[in-house]
Amino acid sequence: MSEAVTYGKYLKIDELLSLQQPRDEVEHDEMLFIVIHQVYELWFKVVLHEIDYCVRLLASEDADRAVHTLKRVLTILKVMVSQLDILETMTPTEFLTFRERLESASGFQSDQFRALEFVLGRKSRAAIERFPEGSRARRGLEARWESPTLWDALLSYLASQGYAIPEEQLARDPTAPIEASQELQSVLVALYREDVRNAELCERIVDLDEGIQEWRYRHVKMVERTIGSKQGTGGSAGSAYLRTTLHQPLFPDLWEIRAQL
Ligand code: HEM
Repeated sequence: MSEAVTYGKYLKIDELLSLQQPRDEVEHDEMLFIVIHQVYELWFKVVLHEIDYCVRLLASEDADRAVHTLKRVLTILKVMVSQLDILETMTPTEFLTFRERLESASGFQSDQFRALEFVLGRKSRAAIERFPEGSRARRGLEARWESPTLWDALLSYLASQGYAIPEEQLARDPTAPIEASQELQSVLVALYREDVRNAELCERIVDLDEGIQEWRYRHVKMVERTIGSKQGTGGSAGSAYLRTTLHQPLFPDLWEIRAQL
C-alpha cells in the first residue's frame, strides 16, 4: 500500500529546504539572497504558467476567463515588486560579504525572465544562444521562439470579435519586436469608446505592461543603492545598462491611444 500523503511529501519540503546551498560557509545575509532569488524563480514559473493559459483562453475566445487570469498575474506581480523591499534591507557592506562568490552569476542569466520577455513580445536570438545546446533553459526558449506572444493572441482574439485588425498585424512575425501601428490604434480607439468588456481586457494588459516596467525600475533603484556605479557580476555596466531598459512599453499602441481618447 502506498504511504499516506502528508504536507511534507506533497510539497517535497525536505527537497525544498535542502536547495539553499551557499558556495562556502554561509554568510549571514547570503541566506536571504539565495532564498529571494529562488522565490522569484518560482513566481516566474507561475506567471509563465498563467500567461500561457491566458494566450490559450484568448485563442478560444474566452475573454472573461482571460481577464480573471490576468488579474491573478497582476496580483503576483505586485508581490514580486514589493519583495524588492526585503532585499533592500541588505546594506552594500552586507552584500560585499559574499558578492565575490557569485563570480559571473547574475539575474541576467535567468532563462525564465527571458521566457517572460519572449511571451510578452521581446524575443532575441542572443538570449537563446547564451544557454548551452540541449539545456532545459535553451529548449524552453526555443519552444517559445515561434509561438504567438500575448499581443498576437490579443489581436487574433479582437479579429475574431469582428474588429478590423490590419492584415499585416494578424500575419505579424511573432519573433519580431512589437511596433506601434497608426491603423491599429484607430481600431483600438473605437473599441475603447464603445466596448467596455474588451476595453477592460486591454486595460489589464496595460496593467501587466506597467507592472513589468515598475519591477525594472525598482530593481534598478535597488541595484543603485547596493552597488552604485560598479559593474554587474554578469559583465554589464550594471545600473547604467539596466537604466537603458526602463520606460520601454511592451505594447506601445495601448499607450499611444491615450492621447487620442
Ligand atoms: C543585491 C541584489 C541585486 C543586485 C546587486 C543585482 C544586480 C544586477 C545587475 C548589475 C544586473 C545587470 C546585469 C549584470 O551585469 O549582472 C542585473 C540584471 C538582472 N537582475 Fe538583478 N540584482 C539583484 C537582485 C535581483 C533579484 C532578486 C532578481 C530576481 C530574479 C534579479 C533579476 C535580474 C534580472 C532578470 C536581470 C536582467 C535584466 C535585463 O537584462 O533586462 N536581480 N541585476
